[in-house]
Amino acid sequence: MNSTSSPTIAVTAATGKLGQLVVSSLLERGVPADHIVAIVRNPAKAQGLFAPGVQIRQADYNSPEGWDRALAGVQRLLLISSSDLNDRADQHRTVIEAASAAGVELLAYTSLLKADTARMSLAADHQATEKLLTESGVPFVLLRNGWYLENYDLAQALQTGSVLGAAGTGRISAASRKDLAEAAAAALTRDGQAGKVYELAGDEAFSLSELAAELSKQSGKDVQYRNFAPEDYQRTLEGFGLPAPVAQMLVSSDEGVARGELELPNSDLRELIGRPSTSLKEAVASQLAGQQA
Ligand SMILES: NC(=O)c1ccc[n+]([C@@H]2O[C@H](COP(=O)([O-])OP(=O)(O)OC[C@H]3O[C@@H](n4cnc5c(N)ncnc54)[C@H](OP(=O)(O)O)[C@@H]3O)[C@@H](O)[C@H]2O)c1
Repeated sequence: MNSTSSPTIAVTAATGKLGQLVVSSLLERGVPADHIVAIVRNPAKAQGLFAPGVQIRQADYNSPEGWDRALAGVQRLLLISSSDLNDRADQHRTVIEAASAAGVELLAYTSLLKADTARMSLAADHQATEKLLTESGVPFVLLRNGWYLENYDLAQALQTGSVLGAAGTGRISAASRKDLAEAAAAALTRDGQAGKVYELAGDEAFSLSELAAELSKQSGKDVQYRNFAPEDYQRTLEGFGLPAPVAQMLVSSDEGVARGELELPNSDLRELIGRPSTSLKEAVASQLAGQQA
């Protein structure tokens, strides 16, 4: 892509782990740095994070101020869902309304895998945001992301010899953040994306027992999956000091896993990124290598 043909693409929550990877992936796809806008709530945190030429602009999901400046000249926008679960759909509404006012031509939103049917508690904000998008009139594409492979704290599992959960034998088609960032960059740089709904999940699914077994195999240490009834898991997590709402969200997510909400064979990920997704084996190996480094 050269400067004349490339649309200006903005990424919100660009200081986050996914946002940084999306900006890198856009650059790898040939989007000129000066056609990329990293929207961040804290510019100090963005210092030195992005390649020279990437524009850094400030805006916060919790305030409508600043979004007109942040979106000036932006044709395509990636709205990365907020990590603050308080009134999350309202935070997203701020961005969608600003995108509408700014005449953004395409808004890509990082939703949840199978958001339209999922019943885990996290799905509600994504369903509400998808509805806001439908009502907004802004052309949009949905990137319904499955679980990150990085969600699992393997260091702790190795330390305790246990992976804990309430997911039963439910399977998870997890993908790496990098896979999902590449998918977002692919959708943002393709034409004709308005109205598309991408279900984005890893090529292979695994249960938490299989995760524990892979960790045992690669580390040489005995790690077992311990499955709890939802109310026992809730008590256990709170016993570790987690606030009750966070524990509830984790329990509800595992109940969703048990119902198959995060399993999806043949998702759209492989086609978007043009390669197989990162495997469980590779993810475990890279986390173990990171711990040794
Ligand atoms: N699919 C999954 O397995 C999974 C797992 C975890 C999270 N998620 C979702 O995916 C999103 C991206 O994941 P991630 O790994 O990049 O998460 P992350 O590293 O925690 O980044 C979250 C980003 O959200 C930004 N943010 C939070 N509140 C904001 C606000 N009021 N205004 C503007 N920005 C705000 C944060 O800004 P600061 O950098 O200033 O803190 C940060 O950049 C998360 O926010 C969450 O919604 C998905």
